[in-house]
Amino acid sequence: MTRKITVGILTISDRGAAGSYEDKSGPVIEEVVTTQLEAQVEQKAVIPDEIDLIKATLLQWVEQDQVDLILTTGGTGFAPRDVTPEATRLVIQREAPGLVFAMLKDSLAVTPHAMLSRMVAGIRGRTLIINLPGSPKAVRENLVTILPALPHAVELLRDDPLADKHH
Ligand code: MTE
Repeated sequence: MTRKITVGILTISDRGAAGSYEDKSGPVIEEVVTTQLEAQVEQKAVIPDEIDLIKATLLQWVEQDQVDLILTTGGTGFAPRDVTPEATRLVIQREAPGLVFAMLKDSLAVTPHAMLSRMVAGIRGRTLIINLPGSPKAVRENLVTILPALPHAVELLRDDPLADKHH
């Protein structure tokens, strides 16, 4: 990897955005990606579970900031306000189900509640977007699974001559 992997960290939480709850999951992502991927965090935000706002933030980080990787946390469950997967699907052009499969496989060995996450992973342009569940524990457990594949994933997206042509 010639250049550092650039990352956006998006915490999606009504309570976190309202300030009634301290975001602990975003900082866990930051710690893991900076220490274990030597990545550079370019964008961070805590926003409420609003589909339009999630979509707009993802699009901005892809189109304007052109980060290699966006990791979201929260809003992947069954509660009526959980819309992170729906917002992500509006942004990605190609799904990356293998990442989700790997996370679910490992997480199910830890807790049956893993099957309650509807997380999505996919690609827009040269940016890989991955949903993670909301709790700091779940973030750590899911990230550990996918970390080994992320440098190669980013390398492939940077090298893809057609990356800007996918619809
Ligand atoms: N995955 C792992 N590895 N560890 C966990 O503790 N928690 C689950 C699941 N995935 C969990 C996990 C729980 S309790 C829920 S409700 C779903 O993620 C969705 O979480 P979210 O709505 O905060 O995104």
